[in-house]
Amino acid sequence: MRNMTGEALLSVRDLTAGYGAIQILWDVSLDVFPGEIVCVVGANGAGKSTLLNTLLGMIPAWSGSIAFAGADITRLPGPKRVAMGMGFAPEGRHLFYGLTVEDNLLMGAYQRPSDASVREDLDYVYSMFESVFRHKDRLAGNLSGGEQQMCAIGRALMARPKLLVIDELSLGLAPVIVDDLIRILSALREERGISILLVEQDVQVALDLSDRGYVVESGRVTLEDTSENLGCNGHVKAAYLGIV
Ligand SMILES: Nc1ncnc2c1ncn2[C@@H]1O[C@H](COP(=O)(O)OP(=O)(O)OP(=O)(O)O)[C@@H](O)[C@H]1O
Ligand SMILES: [Mg+2]
Repeated sequence: MRNMTGEALLSVRDLTAGYGAIQILWDVSLDVFPGEIVCVVGANGAGKSTLLNTLLGMIPAWSGSIAFAGADITRLPGPKRVAMGMGFAPEGRHLFYGLTVEDNLLMGAYQRPSDASVREDLDYVYSMFESVFRHKDRLAGNLSGGEQQMCAIGRALMARPKLLVIDELSLGLAPVIVDDLIRILSALREERGISILLVEQDVQVALDLSDRGYVVESGRVTLEDTSENLGCNGHVKAAYLGIV
């Protein structure tokens, strides 16, 4: 675990949110410290995507606070959060399927001046994701699931994020692709110092990749600990790892 003594990069306190009159998130508090990889795990419908979408400003917070890089962003519009350094690879990837892979990547840099640094970052993404490079002129809609996920993460990286937020890293992907993604995300942290907050259905994958984790159940954080301790926790083992 890294730098947990300094100031958190992302600090969420008592966050509530929902849809219409239905409350989904109940007093969620969570931190990501610089250079950390943090996972959020929980069953289908627990509120994980709602949490990430609220952090990115796609759903308004009802109450509580979200601070990022020392600033209160609770009411800040989503694009401004991205400009401040939050990169998002949403559940379902949401690529522009009628555009080429390269144009999708460039969409991730739309808030930046189109100077030489954009080309540098494209080259960096291509060096990280060989399959994205190989298919850069193909339509994103014609990529495999794994390639689409890499393209979505690459697009998020084009905004030069301090924090990369990923919803459902491995959903629908073959184990060999998941291994690739784990290696790439670890390298991103090492090479660029990027912090990562990820939601991951496969709890073993989530705990292997992350330093710390939060368990969300019915919209509340019910457990938080180092990933190592969570992996040994009786409830986590029984409910999420299928170990009795
Ligand atoms: N747009 C929406 N309008 C109304 N209710 C919604 C909406 N999106 C999600 N919900 C509800 O909010 C709850 C939490 O959903 P959410 O998508 O956050 O769960 P999740 O933990 O991401 O689940 P999964 O693992 O299946 O992705 C669920 O009961 C879901 O039906
Ligand atoms: Mg979800």
